Amino acid sequence: MQEKLIKLKDEALKAIEAVKNSVNLEDLEIKFLGRKNGELTNLMKGLKDLEGEAKKTFGALANEVKTAIEGAMNNKKTEITQSEWAKNLATESIDISQPSLPAQKFGSFHPNTIIQRDLENLFSAMGFMVLDGPELESDYYNFNAVNIPADHPARDMQDTFYIKGFDFFSENPQVMRTQTSPMQVRAMQKYGAPLRVIIPGKVFRNESTDVRHEHTFYQLEGIVIDKDINISHLKGVLQVLVKHLYGPETKLRLRPKYYPFVEPGVNGEVTCFLCEGKGCRVCKHSGWLEILGAGMVHPNVLKEGGVDPKVYQGFAFGFGLTRLVMLKYGIDDIRLLESGDLKFLKQF
Ligand code: PHE
Repeated sequence: MQEKLIKLKDEALKAIEAVKNSVNLEDLEIKFLGRKNGELTNLMKGLKDLEGEAKKTFGALANEVKTAIEGAMNNKKTEITQSEWAKNLATESIDISQPSLPAQKFGSFHPNTIIQRDLENLFSAMGFMVLDGPELESDYYNFNAVNIPADHPARDMQDTFYIKGFDFFSENPQVMRTQTSPMQVRAMQKYGAPLRVIIPGKVFRNESTDVRHEHTFYQLEGIVIDKDINISHLKGVLQVLVKHLYGPETKLRLRPKYYPFVEPGVNGEVTCFLCEGKGCRVCKHSGWLEILGAGMVHPNVLKEGGVDPKVYQGFAFGFGLTRLVMLKYGIDDIRLLESGDLKFLKQF
């Protein structure tokens, strides 16, 4: 028994000495010391058949052999690691003349998103909620609910995409919303009064497209409902808006304009920020840029939203977010915005 142990030790130490790399060294570890079927482990199983002095001596010797093999293994491990490092160091080199890898490319926000987020922050700071709404809208919400009945000539102001099978003459006509105004009524129905919301979003018109017309563009709608609201509140909020957009010197003027869902209705113009009101190509030499529609919410619209016009008043405004983006960045063809053209989009 004891000779077997000594023989095993000699054999193991010789094998370890001869080993050249860490993989083979691991194999040896399993072969000799492996817990399941290692040769030393197997020999030690004989321990249980021995007794007294014999058991003691054998046990001590077995431990000695184990320590010797483990020690040799550890030394070899250090030796191999060091020589492998040294080898790597000798073969590795750094080419300091190699050009750097191209920098990671990041996407950028669409110009619409940039302006929309900026305005969401501005209006949130004034206590407005920001709402989303359906782009496929019922004819009822898009028109009737905002005081444009089926036979009303104002329907001609907006060229509408009707949905196949749900056209104007069907029972439940559906349209791609032509404006964000239907959300005025949806918001009132959902949240009641008092109310302060803006609704930025996509709208659609059946246009022949050119540099100024596009079938898909963005609007931003706002509505405020409360007791004792009058048109000076409207003007105050719009002034904050235009100064934020075009600087503190910007002037706002409101002139009467007809929109079916407001009474009185106005259109809002700002002093042209390019020529500061002197007159240029962009403002068609008038010094003013028309940027929005607004007015006091029509009692019929309040009623449609379930709000009592004898108790509450409100104002609403709407503008083309797309137009603001074009003015701000000097974009002269509206079609670029929906084109997905990376050469265009990467500039922002
Ligand atoms: N919805 C109108 C448009 O698309 C804009 C508007 C909104 C006007 C709210 C007045 C009040 O032209």
